[in-house]
Amino acid sequence: MPKNLNLTDNLEQYIINHSDDLTEIQKEIINYNKSLGDQKKLQISISQAQFLQSLIKISNTKKILEIGSFTGFSALSMALALPPDGQLISLDKNHEYSEKAKKFYEKANNKKIKQIVKPALESLNDLQVSSEIFDLIFIDADKENYIKYYNFSMNLITQGGIIIIDNVLWHGEVVDKSNDDKLTNIIRDFNKHIKNDIRVTKNIIPVGDGLTICIKK
Ligand SMILES: C[S@@+](CC[C@H](N)C(=O)[O-])C[C@H]1O[C@@H](n2cnc3c(N)ncnc32)[C@H](O)[C@@H]1O
Repeated sequence: MPKNLNLTDNLEQYIINHSDDLTEIQKEIINYNKSLGDQKKLQISISQAQFLQSLIKISNTKKILEIGSFTGFSALSMALALPPDGQLISLDKNHEYSEKAKKFYEKANNKKIKQIVKPALESLNDLQVSSEIFDLIFIDADKENYIKYYNFSMNLITQGGIIIIDNVLWHGEVVDKSNDDKLTNIIRDFNKHIKNDIRVTKNIIPVGDGLTICIKK
């Protein structure tokens, strides 16, 4: 059986150096996030952003829902991969992050992103009531609500649409049997929930902190 690569920081940098260049505003968001100290870890990795962009292009996605936007790196990256008539709705409850993200979208002159700033479960309920349907949903908010976000997403995604969930490998902790902490168990339970859902085909990609790709049958 082939052995998997040990993805060191050097190798990750090599991957970034040999993939598409980021736009100036993407770089600006990353630099801003770095200035926030520990919170910078909330942002998806550059490789993840580029992987999402490829998925969006391959799947001809036009309408995206993002749950958890922080300062806008993932939303802007995905919006950049959308066609001219594409749209992205981004959900976050944090006003400060959302204001900052808004400024970056404006600076990038990106008019495809619509922000909704309130607890995501409320927004998801509103979207369901108004019968909104998306081609791709990216879940990257509070882990405690992951199963609820996923269940809402199953009602909001088109047939053949893609639901992508971040942090499913939880820094590798999911396989550490000595780890019994609350969040690790939440992620393990979530992964079991997806595994048992016969309505989707699914696989986990070890990019960044692990992305699950679900395709609704
Ligand atoms: C991991 S960060 C998202 C990172 C973002 N996708 C990126 O790559 O830059 C999680 C975000 O979820 C938001 N969040 C946490 N709980 C939430 C909730 N109940 N409703 C809406 N947003 C929430 C936080 O404010 C935070 O901005």
